[in-house]
Parts: sequence; C-alpha cells; structure tokens
Amino acid sequence: MNIAFFDSGIGGLTVLQEAMRRLPGENFLYFADTLHVPYGTKTLEEVKRYVQESVQLVMKEPVQALVVACNTGTSAAIEELRSTYDHIPVIGMEPAVKPAVRRSHEAGRRVLVFATELTLSLSKYHDLVDRVDDHKVVDSMPLPELVQYCEQLQFAPQQIEAYFRGKLGGINLDVYGTIVLGCTHFPYYKNILRHLLPPHIELIDGTGGTVDRLCTMLGLPKVQPEEGASVKTQASSPVPPITFMCSDRNPAYLDKMARALAYLQSLQA
Ligand code: DGL
Repeated sequence: MNIAFFDSGIGGLTVLQEAMRRLPGENFLYFADTLHVPYGTKTLEEVKRYVQESVQLVMKEPVQALVVACNTGTSAAIEELRSTYDHIPVIGMEPAVKPAVRRSHEAGRRVLVFATELTLSLSKYHDLVDRVDDHKVVDSMPLPELVQYCEQLQFAPQQIEAYFRGKLGGINLDVYGTIVLGCTHFPYYKNILRHLLPPHIELIDGTGGTVDRLCTMLGLPKVQPEEGASVKTQASSPVPPITFMCSDRNPAYLDKMARALAYLQSLQA
C-alpha cells in the first residue's frame, strides 16, 4: 500500500516515523509544503488554499490513504479534503486534549496545550475543548518560534531550553498534570522538555492515536501503544521505502528531511 503523509514542513515526519515502525511492509510518500511553511502564523483562507494545492500534487501519485500529519492543516481544511477525496481514507490530527483532560483530572491538575496560533484560534479547537473540558482545566499556549526552530533543525538543548524558560517562566507549572504537544513539529523537543519540566508533568501528543486510526481505516493490524504515548523505534527494523516530495522542489529540502528523520530516530535509540 502507498500511504501519503502531508505537513507544512518536517513536523509530519514525527507521525511518519511512527507509521514506519508500525507498518514496515507499506510504502510511504511524504509531502512538505516548503513554499508556505509555517502555516500556523498565516490566515485560515491562506492555509486552506495551501493545503488544497499541496494535496492536489500528492493525489497525482497513486496513494491509497492520506494522513494530514499537521494539526493546523487539519483544523483548516480536513472537511474539504474529505469531501474532495472521498475515494480514499483521509486521516487528520487534532491536539490530544481528551486523554489529557482525563489524566489530569484524575490527578487534580490542569492541562496546557501547545499548538500553533492558527490551530488555537479556530472553532475546531474551541469545539473540541468545549466537548471534553467539563471541569474547565484546559489552558493553551501558541509556540510559533518552535516551528521555526524545528524547520532550521535547531535542536541544541541550551538554546531550546532558554526559549522554553522564557515561555514558561511566568507560569506555575505545579498546577499542570499534562502538556499536550498539539503540533507535529513539537515532538522533536520532547526530550528537551522532559528534562526541563517537573517530573509530575506528562507529555502527550496525537502521534500514536493517528497511526491507530490509519491502521483501523486501512484494516491493517495494529500494535497498540498506550494512548498518546510515543513508541520506540527498533534499531533493527528495516526502513520501508519513502518517496519525499516538497512544493518548492528544492533538493536541499530533501536532504533536510533525511536529517530530520535521522534526528528523530536518534531520539528513540
Ligand atoms: N506541523 C504543523 C502542525 O501540526 C504546522 C506547523 C506550522 O506550519 O506552523 O500544526
């Protein structure tokens, strides 16, 4: 099967990596909208258009499923994509607020959602929070710079830790039980955050749940990790074929994607 993943940039590789681990027998295509990254600081209308244009290019390839590995792109355009491409499963992503609320509530603590400005401003996110946040424990914080750092492959702990200290400095972290990484660029910084945050704070993202959904939609057997948790890549597992594409057709970006994927794999080692 040929499964396509789409993101504004290298963020969706965090989901692709998990899919590769769980579905080693499949083929993968990864498309990055390098002409327009980042999406999170753009308008809804712009992002809708960029997503449609990108997915049109993806759909020229023979793909049997599309994963919109981008919370911002999903928030902006998933309904339109599903109605345009109703012949294949189109799987989107949203911040993992529901499991976060459940876990934090059990611990008597609050939830902090990190995502892009656009994701946090749209009704899809507000509707989600209204649906699941019965006890009004969800707070949100946009982290636009983090997408930029990630696109620049800036993973040096000192710089990123200083950034997070600046962002979180005025916040009482004791009240939070869970932080949701509601942007696919953010799991690159999981280890740095883990090191920085008090140990009682759990980090969760939608990666595992998205790959579960992909398996269900395709009728593929799924290995079931804990909801929202990341899964370790086995160094011995074979790397399945991946076709990388990007909207500006810059070969340098292809090299960047390979380096980003190698970095992600090093985090799991
Ligand atoms: N990785 C994307 C997301 O999950 C988009 C980030 C951006 O382009 O601003 O939201």
